[in-house]
Amino acid sequence: MIGFIGGGNMAEALIKGIRGTASKDIYVSEPNEQRRLYLKTTYGVDTTGNNMELAASSDIIVIAVKPQVISALADEFSGTDLSKKTIVSIAAGVSISNLRQAFRTETVIRVMPNTPALVLKGMSVISAAEGISPETIDKIDAIFSSIGEILHLPEAHMDAVTAVSGSGPAFISFFVQGMIEGGIALGLDGQTASALAIQTLAGTSELLASHSPEAIIKMVSSPGGTTVAGLKVMQDRDAAGLIADVLRAAAIRSAELNIKLKGQ
Ligand SMILES: NC(=O)c1ccc[n+]([C@@H]2O[C@H](COP(=O)([O-])OP(=O)(O)OC[C@H]3O[C@@H](n4cnc5c(N)ncnc54)[C@H](OP(=O)(O)O)[C@@H]3O)[C@@H](O)[C@H]2O)c1
Repeated sequence: MIGFIGGGNMAEALIKGIRGTASKDIYVSEPNEQRRLYLKTTYGVDTTGNNMELAASSDIIVIAVKPQVISALADEFSGTDLSKKTIVSIAAGVSISNLRQAFRTETVIRVMPNTPALVLKGMSVISAAEGISPETIDKIDAIFSSIGEILHLPEAHMDAVTAVSGSGPAFISFFVQGMIEGGIALGLDGQTASALAIQTLAGTSELLASHSPEAIIKMVSSPGGTTVAGLKVMQDRDAAGLIADVLRAAAIRSAELNIKLKGQ
């Protein structure tokens, strides 16, 4: 049984994905009664308002609450033996060592998914604590493969991962918003500017599966043409440096957020 503690956005994406592919035995613990009813009626999963009950009947426990809630959750489980359970945390900035100490189990896996998981196009980076069996890792891979692509990386890369793929959808959306506003400034109506920018993003992202960014830039640019004129502004304003700064700020913040749980 896969148990989710917290039935919010990310848990819902995972439930949707798992029901399509991996194990269908899903249990969700969620304090909000209306939300429990929604998950039960939409996805046919069992729900409870009791985290202890969930832990008792789940082999894999996915912690899908906000990072600030982890400490209270650890307190709630202080009298419970979780050493035979696999704890999977998707909470941003909570390290494997903090999780091991908080939940007193060695079997901890940290995952950073991202919001395109909501449309089953997610990118999840998985870092498993040492000593976890290949069978357990396979099960976790199956869960996260059901919402998109997966990649295994050492935990040391999690801050960079959080910046690029975790926060990435917001940065890319900011750029798209700029394209829409720029289109409106050039006289397009909002709906048209929006349709052009979004379809351009969708098409380009499909093209990127088979072409490098450099190749696409070259394909679109003709000497003395419109693209080159726009790219010159990007180069003159050091847009690449700006993007690097954006990612650096997000990675630094991720490192700062590495929450110190009680007792450490
Ligand atoms: N969204 C993303 O793009 C993203 C990407 C990567 C990682 N993550 C991580 O995923 C985690 C969940 O994010 P989310 O966006 O799904 O958040 P969310 O929508 O706020 O979901 C969290 C859920 O947990 C419930 N909850 C709160 N306290 C609880 C408790 N003690 N026991 C059981 N459930 C409890 C909340 O209920 P109430 O609303 O009633 O409090 C809420 O339904 C976070 O740690 C975040 O860092 C999110």
